[in-house]
Amino acid sequence: MRRLAWFSFLPAAVVVLAAGCGSPSVPAQPAYDADVRPILMAHCVRCHGAGGSLNVPTEPTGPNAPTLPSISDSSVLMSFDALNLYVDQYDSTGDCTSNPPSNCKQGAEIFATTIAGTVHASAKPPTAMPPAPAPRLDDWAIEILDNWSNEKPKPVCSNSPDPDNTICPNGP
Ligand code: HEC
Repeated sequence: MRRLAWFSFLPAAVVVLAAGCGSPSVPAQPAYDADVRPILMAHCVRCHGAGGSLNVPTEPTGPNAPTLPSISDSSVLMSFDALNLYVDQYDSTGDCTSNPPSNCKQGAEIFATTIAGTVHASAKPPTAMPPAPAPRLDDWAIEILDNWSNEKPKPVCSNSPDPDNTICPNGP
């Protein structure tokens, strides 16, 4: 009898646990400052912008470590430099239109659609991000990047009328 009673509580306990441990719900209108940047800082910035630079990807990370096998091709590394993507900034800075560009750092906003595309399960190496052996993003993060990239007229920097101007220097 006791045993039976204990078992009857199990389904409820599982539901509570799943709700408690699962990811929070995906915001319909995610913003760069609150929702997107934390994901990019956790999974992408070590190559795309940490320390204010592009960091040629090595694994395990370290100055003398070999280049990641998944992207060691020189043409891949050239396109990495040309991309010039700094995910820790929303806006592009410097002069990106001159040839060669001067001091140009391209921000996440203009690449929103490409960023969302590279994290999808359907993305193929070498542009599946982050590159192996890093684990792919979970569905929660992918959905946030998708929703953000689909915002019209453009992916927003902040949902606050008065955002942190180090992250959103040109307003929300
Ligand atoms: C280990 C280093 C590394 C990490 C971490 C990394 N990238 Fe990349 N990324 C690269 C390299 C190298 C390329 C160039 C690949 C190419 O264009 O062939 C690249 C290319 C890209 C491109 C251009 C793809 C295209 O279609 O041309 C985007 C967008 C991108 N990365 C976004 C991201 C995002 C978003 C994350 C995090 C989820 C991320 N990257 C994590 C190294 C990295």
